[in-house]
Amino acid sequence: KSVSIIGVPMDLGQTRRGVDMGPSAIRYAGVKECLVKLGYSVYDEGNIKVEIQERTILDQKTSLKNLTAVAEGNERLAHKVEEVISQRRFPLVLGGDHSIAIGTLAGVAKHSQNLGVIWYDAHGDLNTAETSPSGNIHGMPLAVSLGIGHPALTNIGGYAPKIKPENIVIIGARDLDTGERKLIKEKGIKVYTMHEIDRIGMTNVMKETIDYLKERTEHVHLSLDMDGLDPTEAPGVGTPVAGGISYRESHLAMEMLEESKLITSAEFVEVNPILDEKNKTGAAAVALISSLFGEKLL
Ligand code: ARG
Ligand code: MN
Ligand code: MN
Ligand code: MN
Repeated sequence: KSVSIIGVPMDLGQTRRGVDMGPSAIRYAGVKECLVKLGYSVYDEGNIKVEIQERTILDQKTSLKNLTAVAEGNERLAHKVEEVISQRRFPLVLGGDHSIAIGTLAGVAKHSQNLGVIWYDAHGDLNTAETSPSGNIHGMPLAVSLGIGHPALTNIGGYAPKIKPENIVIIGARDLDTGERKLIKEKGIKVYTMHEIDRIGMTNVMKETIDYLKERTEHVHLSLDMDGLDPTEAPGVGTPVAGGISYRESHLAMEMLEESKLITSAEFVEVNPILDEKNKTGAAAVALISSLFGEKLL
């Protein structure tokens, strides 16, 4: 039972400053101490090097923002994640904006032919340069991991694609762009929007998700964007969307994932301490991580 914490101070996948301090905020909220208390050997691997750019650089051809620096940071992250898994440690990646899922998945999928992914998020992150309303790469990592997008991103880790559409479950979606909706239908990606969560409850959403992935995948990565939660309970995020998943429902989801023993890697992203209220979102991330790793009251 050993866990490696990998910080990724990435803020170049979007344009709101501060999300690069997310790893610090989550560490400050006590992530390592919590995992140690639960009985894990914990290695803090420190932070992946990410370029500091004070202004946005637009790719001339595609208008993607900060393409080179995002790609380079993700390449380094992919290597680190791969190395950690080789050492038989659980990679726990702390963001940073969601563009870092590109590197995490590039590292994780090297070790898994049939990787499952749970995308816990208000957004689909299924845009390409052509469909993106913003040019922000944090709105693209799931598409990129499917092999759809700019080759500088899809080829990170030296191979593509990383995952199959039928191995993905999106949970918490409530803000999807036109191109994303099209891709979801075209590829048959399984999505539990807020409507389904309201309708059948988080218990059933997680039961179905776990059964679905157990049947068809061998490892499962959890990519948890803190904006999946309601902004009243996780205010420190760059792209908040009202009407989200509650703190309690999120705990239940993490507890059910722990019971399932399905999750073999995880990342918690989009914590922005500048936008936060007294590190509420950082603390919420740590609380959810604790549940995911087996904390129980009794
Ligand atoms: N769909 C919007 C875009 O592509 C928002 C994406 C937000 N993504 C995130 N990881 N918070 O720009
Ligand atoms: Mn999001
Ligand atoms: Mn490489
Ligand atoms: Mn996201």
